[in-house]
Amino acid sequence: EKGGYEHFMLKEIFEQPKSVHDTMRGRLLVDEGIIKMAGIWDHLERFKNANRIIIIACGTSWHAGLIGEYLIEEYARIPVEVEYASEFRYRNPIITDKDVVIAISQSGETADTMAALKLAKEKGAFIYGICNVVDSSIARITDAGSYTHAGPEIGVASTKAFTAQLTILTLIAFKLGKHNGNLGNADFMSLIAELDAIPKRIEEVLNTTHEQIKEIAKDFVETTNFLYLGRGYNYPAALEGALKLKEISYIHAEGYPAAEMKHGPIALIDENMPIVIIAPKRGHYDKIVSNVQEIKARKGKIIAVVNKGDRQVSEMADYVIEIPETSECFSPIVASVPLQLLAYYIAVYRGANVDQPRNLAKSVTVE
Ligand code: M6R
Repeated sequence: EKGGYEHFMLKEIFEQPKSVHDTMRGRLLVDEGIIKMAGIWDHLERFKNANRIIIIACGTSWHAGLIGEYLIEEYARIPVEVEYASEFRYRNPIITDKDVVIAISQSGETADTMAALKLAKEKGAFIYGICNVVDSSIARITDAGSYTHAGPEIGVASTKAFTAQLTILTLIAFKLGKHNGNLGNADFMSLIAELDAIPKRIEEVLNTTHEQIKEIAKDFVETTNFLYLGRGYNYPAALEGALKLKEISYIHAEGYPAAEMKHGPIALIDENMPIVIIAPKRGHYDKIVSNVQEIKARKGKIIAVVNKGDRQVSEMADYVIEIPETSECFSPIVASVPLQLLAYYIAVYRGANVDQPRNLAKSVTVE
């Protein structure tokens, strides 16, 4: 059932061209210029009139939520807050019937997310689910929702569910933006055409980086700490890259917005500290270049994820992983793939049980 792969996680990483495509299928109609999502369409007024959207989730799904905030605020101009379900639940949050709450959960069974949703529902908010497991508890309690069609995810470390969540959030942001007038037709058309080709971009990344990452991973088997940095849309992608590594390899890893480095974490940097930096051309590139210079000056080991043909960051980096250039909003989808592979191979070389990491369960059904 692992389809010839050594682990479910690797199989699921490689399934992403298909799972992202399946998540868009029937929804993204590029030729007609339409995004079809009944859950949004049937409740368009709720979304349009929302004071704000609150996204609640845990773990990887929370990282997807952070990217959702960038997407929805940029394209639909609706204020978004993203909360850890556990924190939201226990701090007597201000919720009104003018709020829309979106819960993101692969399993649809996460207890903290479920409890937060019940609270939001009691307070009259409209609640929307983005779940992978059909008919799960969260899918059933929500007023409406959109399933991610990633297929069953068996590896405890979430991979294809994450990129499918990003796909749904992108569709929602574009659809809301189109209907509330914040995303003009020409931009909408070019963005959806680019989104439609994202499965191909993922395929390219898998083909061109897989062997290379296997080699890079060998140099980090004994490493005890990692930093992951990114800006804008790729800041949450950095958090997610770090989470993948710590979950399955048990190496301590932290994600930071690259500009926050100078406010503390830069003190950690020396020749023993590897830093994964996500540095695509579109998205504060010049600022990232100066962050890389600061790291270089302190002899940090740089693993840079850059666009094809990149020069400035690549010249300073110790390892260069190339991904295709995309509009900034799609870059976390393509950039996440090499980071998943990197975490996977480091964990495999360390002899860890990647599909069933110690102390972790696939769905966390206790609060
Ligand atoms: O099923 P959910 O998406 O609600 O799960 C949330 C987290 O428990 C989950 O993403 C966890 O962080 C994963 N192990 C990450 O790989």
